[in-house]
Amino acid sequence: MTGALGQIGSELVSALRSRYGVDRVVASDVRMHPRGSGQNGAFEYVDVTNGRQLQGVVRRHGVDTIYHLAALLSAVAEEKPQVAWNVNMGGLYRVLEVARENHCAVFHPSSIGAFGPGTPREATPQDTIQRPNTIYGVTKVSAELLCDYYHHRFQVETRGLRFPGLISHVAPPGGGTSDYAVEMFFGAIRHGRYTCFLRPDSSMDMMFMPDAIRATIELMEADANKLIHRNAFNLTAMNFNPRDLAAAIAVCRPGFEIDYEVDPVRQAIADSWPLSVDDRAAREEWGWRPEYDLARTCEEMLDVLAKKLKPEDERCP
Ligand code: SER
Repeated sequence: MTGALGQIGSELVSALRSRYGVDRVVASDVRMHPRGSGQNGAFEYVDVTNGRQLQGVVRRHGVDTIYHLAALLSAVAEEKPQVAWNVNMGGLYRVLEVARENHCAVFHPSSIGAFGPGTPREATPQDTIQRPNTIYGVTKVSAELLCDYYHHRFQVETRGLRFPGLISHVAPPGGGTSDYAVEMFFGAIRHGRYTCFLRPDSSMDMMFMPDAIRATIELMEADANKLIHRNAFNLTAMNFNPRDLAAAIAVCRPGFEIDYEVDPVRQAIADSWPLSVDDRAAREEWGWRPEYDLARTCEEMLDVLAKKLKPEDERCP
């Protein structure tokens, strides 16, 4: 796995290790593994823009599947578009080349960011207009196409999911637009309040990390003969905007307060994304079913964060 210390990787590594065995999963990242993190198992330093390094790790460990998660998220990509192209596309190209030469399957996460202002915004269909106006979106559409190309041209087993905003209490996201949701949970526990960088009505689809991890594993284990779309499936679990999330948090944490200081860059990114997506293809082709709705996510996030961030046990009623 590349990007194993990131938002998704931190939880996917342990899920794959408990499913397939600790010594069957090699974690890698461009950051060094933090000491005392409690994670057993192989860890390698890998810069995904370095094909030789990737190739070395794949051959040394006999890797048969690459979960390629290393990438810049939407807001930070917009600050550094050249770096974003280099890491997101350069990294994927090298991963696909190594996969082609070593007969590896590849998982690559796409995103609601792969759509753009010309896309139908409500119940966005699986197959539709994709003309994003952010560098993050441009890399995601290009990645979907390149993964499809490597599948039909070189028979590399590429599969992907268009993740909605992801919510987790394990590793913080870095530089995304949907991050407001994670920040709001942390703000609720730490300060009883949060200043949101998106407008109260900025709706988008979201998912709690356990559902995202399960979706990834289910897609990679799905019968290849049943997959029509591959790169990449629309996916959703719940839909809300900052105002809805604040209200749901206030049910568990009465007195929680929110105010708004809109960041024009991240607001423009959110405004270019779908309000909601239609994930019927994922449901039909490989049986996708979410387990966490907003109420259950709130309960678990606040419960875990209350224990993590404060000593006293403050359960949601
Ligand atoms: N969640 C990501 C972000 O906000 C989009 O895929 O950048």
